[in-house]
Amino acid sequence: MKVLICPDRDAAIERAKGIIIDHVNARPKAVLGLATGGTMVPLYERIVSAYQAGAVSFAGVTTFNLDEYIGIPPEHPCSYHTYMRDILFRHIDIDQSRTHLPHGMPDDVDAEGERYEAEITAAGGISLQLLGIGKNGHIGFNEPSSSLASRTRVKTLTETTRNANRQYFPEGEETPRFALTMGIGTILDARECLLIATGADKAQAVADMIEGPVSAACPASALQFHRHATIITDEEAASQLRLTDYYQHVHPDGI
Ligand code: F6R
Repeated sequence: MKVLICPDRDAAIERAKGIIIDHVNARPKAVLGLATGGTMVPLYERIVSAYQAGAVSFAGVTTFNLDEYIGIPPEHPCSYHTYMRDILFRHIDIDQSRTHLPHGMPDDVDAEGERYEAEITAAGGISLQLLGIGKNGHIGFNEPSSSLASRTRVKTLTETTRNANRQYFPEGEETPRFALTMGIGTILDARECLLIATGADKAQAVADMIEGPVSAACPASALQFHRHATIITDEEAASQLRLTDYYQHVHPDGI
């Protein structure tokens, strides 16, 4: 794992933006795996600014999002379809027909998982998978105890995750209990993974992911098996790591 500890959240987001833009500029037909959540909002905003400044084009890029809530139609204001469209897709030159998210209201959820996997394969696989991390160590919506070999399927969300996501739903509206998510096996198939963690509330999960045992108890720890995984944190999210001196020695301030 490449562990880049940046001085603060801004620097971490800027570092991640640079990696994504370099990836797309080097591979105009990149297949990006995308994440949602609060961590990604400032990142996508910076990517939009970079596009507007002419630093990158997404005209040839294909995307696959990690997950979508079940029981929520794409046009729902809190769906990940809406999130992606409003925060990123409608601001850049991507061909909308090459943007993919699992469908949250499929007739057959198992078939939808298989269809999504087949679409990823048909696109040639994911070249760069962007990831956030849950406070409980989840990646995508692979909650603790998820099989480390799992593929796209339904997962029941934990109460921790539902509580974390409650802020995005209107008051009184029940937050979804289930999601369709790429599996850990799907994520590990990406040729490169880039996980971003900021803030003190991610510190324990970050330490478990990087320095803990590989275990379904911390799904993100599966990234220890990936040959090209980069973890970008700010100092708060890195605060529980034991080998900080080493990571800073190798990549001072995440550079
Ligand atoms: C969502 C996703 C999740 C989030 C994670 C962190 O597509 O993949 O794993 O990355 O829940 O969310 P935030 O950034 O809101 O803390």
